[in-house]
Amino acid sequence: MVSTKCSRFTFIVKRRIISLTVLSILLSNVTTMMTVLGNNSNTAFAQPSSSVPSSNNIGESTNTIANQKSEQQNQLPLPSSSSSSIQQQPKTHEYTLIAQNTTLEIAPQLRVDAWTYNGTVPGPTITATEGDRVIIHFINKTPLPHTVHLHGDHPSQEDGVFEMVPPNGTYTYDFIAEPAGALAYHCHVPPVMQHVRMGLYGAFIVYPKAPLPPAREYVFVSGEYDTQNQLNPLPEYYMFNGYTEQYMEHPLPARTNETVRIYLINLGLSPAYGMHIHGSLFKVYPSGILENPTFKVQSWELASGNTAILEVKWPWPGKFTFHYHGIPEERGAMGYFNVTNASPNAIDGKDIAITKSINMNDWQMNLTKSLQKADPHGKVTTLATTPGTNEEHHGMMMGGGGGGGTGGMGMEKHGNGSSLSSTNNAQVSIMKGATALGNKAFSPDHIKIKVGGTVVWTNNDNNIHTVTSGVPNSPNAGQVFDSGLTSLISPSKTYSHKFTSAGDFSYFCRLHPNMVGQIEVVP
Ligand code: CU
Ligand code: CU
Repeated sequence: MVSTKCSRFTFIVKRRIISLTVLSILLSNVTTMMTVLGNNSNTAFAQPSSSVPSSNNIGESTNTIANQKSEQQNQLPLPSSSSSSIQQQPKTHEYTLIAQNTTLEIAPQLRVDAWTYNGTVPGPTITATEGDRVIIHFINKTPLPHTVHLHGDHPSQEDGVFEMVPPNGTYTYDFIAEPAGALAYHCHVPPVMQHVRMGLYGAFIVYPKAPLPPAREYVFVSGEYDTQNQLNPLPEYYMFNGYTEQYMEHPLPARTNETVRIYLINLGLSPAYGMHIHGSLFKVYPSGILENPTFKVQSWELASGNTAILEVKWPWPGKFTFHYHGIPEERGAMGYFNVTNASPNAIDGKDIAITKSINMNDWQMNLTKSLQKADPHGKVTTLATTPGTNEEHHGMMMGGGGGGGTGGMGMEKHGNGSSLSSTNNAQVSIMKGATALGNKAFSPDHIKIKVGGTVVWTNNDNNIHTVTSGVPNSPNAGQVFDSGLTSLISPSKTYSHKFTSAGDFSYFCRLHPNMVGQIEVVP
């Protein structure tokens, strides 16, 4: 399975797309590879931005193959079959990751803004065998800088931290995949918590040179989302593979007496929780590193940024739950395996994994896509407001034309300085270069409105900011209003708040606390 998992990448060798004819000749002596070709309904790999959510792929050649497959076939958990031989020659795997903003459903009836690699959260699963060369072409098609930071061993310039990739910029990461295990990738531009929670993360799996024992293999990437504040340590939503409770609605198939192997990657940002699987104690490779000694456990703590490989087997058919113990299981991080006996004529490596592995990652990615329904022009769900303040409207809206232009924010009425005529409503601009402007970051920085009036802030800067009531580091910061970190993303976002009582309200930016402003609400 190790080598076949990689075979799809031999389609693209050294930055060249090889024609299918050449390919078939190339691959014809490797039967397992052809199996992948035939069965691979839809790969999880890099995809040009604008295609329909259910189709994707690393390159045109694989795309063609995937598109020929029927929808029904795409729904089936078709396997990649396994090979027991040790991979002889290092291969080169070439990916294109495109940072793109979109909206996704992450829970039933909940559509949110998302920053993605290739239109899904998590992004495509990157795979290689230990010692292979991996080339990632990163293209940033969003208004904010991003990177691809990989876990694993590599030199500094491949680490995706200091080489920020600006809007419309590109960067190529080129490294050798090591060590073998479950690794991760994510954006590393500050505030990292924001960039990761918004969706810029994915799995990076490095298979060992000597294949692992046969198993049915799943990938779980843990993520989180908070519609009000992406810095919330107890966020509203916890997801496996980008959608809450998707494996409660669509349980994961497994067979009795086959090994189920889970590559578990935690890209949430909450404190560590224990991953628990029902019906059987399970084996864990700590930190997802295959050279580590294993343990038999009932639950396994997994902190942010850490991974694990879990192996579990059930002798009985039935429904076996898995979840993080604690808050996350109440907020989406719950699913179950539907374990059934294999039929007498089950095909090994297709229906059951006994001597051949079955790779379920494509099936999982297709399911995620079908649930998330990516739509760059989708309308995000507006949430109910804080209890007891029914009149308030905390809203995140799409402003402008969504065209990514820099001008035309409609703030021309206000110059710098104060606006002290009391009106019902007011507009405040977050100025370009706001981080260095202190009390001039908001324009006007001091406004007077009447009770019942609404203030609309528009972010005209190229940075993320918040509009948070109170003063920095005070216990009541954000109590009256708080844009949270999902709002106010330049260039087209606004945040509004309706003031229902009189008083003086100072506010600031949580990320740049030197940015301060004042609202005076008069009867
Ligand atoms: Cu980023
Ligand atoms: Cu700020």
